[in-house]
Amino acid sequence: MNNPERRLSTSVLVIGAGGSGLRAAIELAESGTDVLVVGKRAKSDAHTSLAAGGINAALSTMDPEDSWQQHAADTLKESYLLANPHTVQIVTEGARRGIEDLERYGMPFEREGDGRISQRFFGAHKFRRTAFAGDYTGLEIQRTLISRATQLEIPILDTVYVTRLLVHDNAVFGAYGFDLHNGTQYLIHADAVILAAGGHNRIWRRTSSRRDENTGDSFRLAVEAGGRLRDPELVQFHPSGIIEPENAAGTLISEAARGEGGILRNALGERFMARYDPERMELSTRDRVALACYTEIKEGRGTPNGGVWLDVSHLPRETIMARLPRVYQTMLELQMLDITRDPIEIAPTAHYSMGGVWVRPDDHGTDVDGLYAIGEASSGLHGANRLGGNSLIELLVFGRIVGQAAAAYSSELTAHLRSASSITQARTEIAALLAADGPENVRALQRAIRDTMTAHAGVVRDEEGLRAGIAELDLIEARMENIGVHPDIAGYQDLAHAFDLKSAALAARATLEAALERRETRGAHNRSDFPDIDPALQVNLVWSPQGGIAHEEIPPIPADIVALMEEVSVDGKLVE
Ligand code: FUM
Repeated sequence: MNNPERRLSTSVLVIGAGGSGLRAAIELAESGTDVLVVGKRAKSDAHTSLAAGGINAALSTMDPEDSWQQHAADTLKESYLLANPHTVQIVTEGARRGIEDLERYGMPFEREGDGRISQRFFGAHKFRRTAFAGDYTGLEIQRTLISRATQLEIPILDTVYVTRLLVHDNAVFGAYGFDLHNGTQYLIHADAVILAAGGHNRIWRRTSSRRDENTGDSFRLAVEAGGRLRDPELVQFHPSGIIEPENAAGTLISEAARGEGGILRNALGERFMARYDPERMELSTRDRVALACYTEIKEGRGTPNGGVWLDVSHLPRETIMARLPRVYQTMLELQMLDITRDPIEIAPTAHYSMGGVWVRPDDHGTDVDGLYAIGEASSGLHGANRLGGNSLIELLVFGRIVGQAAAAYSSELTAHLRSASSITQARTEIAALLAADGPENVRALQRAIRDTMTAHAGVVRDEEGLRAGIAELDLIEARMENIGVHPDIAGYQDLAHAFDLKSAALAARATLEAALERRETRGAHNRSDFPDIDPALQVNLVWSPQGGIAHEEIPPIPADIVALMEEVSVDGKLVE
């Protein structure tokens, strides 16, 4: 039997209370549009709060030669030509405005003595263009956006888990969900819906996301509503996740550690980046540094725990305390390790979904009328390799644009049909799971998916492994028919895990199938059986369960930006 149901209605529903969702909601509220935000984590602790090192904009505060065009060129070049040039232009040109918005809301950026916003180097940027607040940049952005949302009295229900989007005749008309504490079900009618519920990097064993974050919710919600995914196989492995303790494996050590001068060594004491990118060394691109760490470990030059060393102990103590306070605290808390004295043992960690829900570059509308996606849920900016710091600026820029687009869509609607069968389907789905009493444990199956993805779709992939991964996933999905779901007086987390599992399975399938189809090595996607770039695959792969995979052409890059791009070299890509 289902729980009591609460009915709400709003003009625009935002799913996800992290940075992109909040920024969109602020835009909507400032324009006088009725908006409701729902999320499955406490808003103060949304995943954005974990983002560490910084946010990019060509402000030229440190390097006057910088320009948005150069930022666009760096982003496109390092995307291995898979980013959409139009999306890139919108973000890089709008980045200054994104920073100004944050300043207007009171964001405490690090500043130079004369008041300029400080900017640091991040990997593969030509100039210093990463603004920051210590290594708590995401946390400060989240706090700043919450404070502005509070001023605007934006309603935020941050214990509501959305299970299904409600769609009639390919137009979204709301969402269905339940309260994580007491199981109350929510039927929310809305003119438009913005999906801001993150990516899918939690479906790997070692990940920088926590248990219930980035489980692929946006992917499943969009696909079940009639949307498609773009480039789900393009997942960024960040070079530096911690290895121990096991229950925190993958926790991020910010790239800021390398940006401030940290160095990488293998177990033999060699500064190994000299072998892979002697020019840029530790500030090479993330795909190369991650692959270099992987290769050192794989070839037997790793530490006994299967890592390499990241050392900042040569930096002045005051630099560490001012610029890397979170890394300092994290290592003390998790390992009782003092980074001012000792190196950190790290290995690559699944960090970011560079692909995501298929969206139009201009307004991030999806295949479904009235449904938008932003932030890590969306796709188009990063291609095959994301520049660190670009995701935070993306959420500021597209939060504003998508807020405006959804407001316009809502105000221009002349009629909006609903579908009783769509609502019944959502209610029935929850009822079926609440009645499920089979022997299969939901958390164990989540773990099985993470093991499969780690074994077969990690930093380096090949045909045989990917096919084995799909076969394993088939078996896991068969076991999912026999799960038991047991909410208890502590809350409805077990029901949430069951939906997370469905999302993880869909995201895993999309990733494995697209990874199989991309028979080349490009950026973060390393195929040991296809070690070169294939020019014919300079396309986006668009996936849906019914349609399989389609190749999508990428528009040409404007000539003035091409002129600023340096050669995309793949030297130093060492695939076994
Ligand atoms: O390493 C970091 O601080 C991560 C930044 C990012 O992913 O943008």
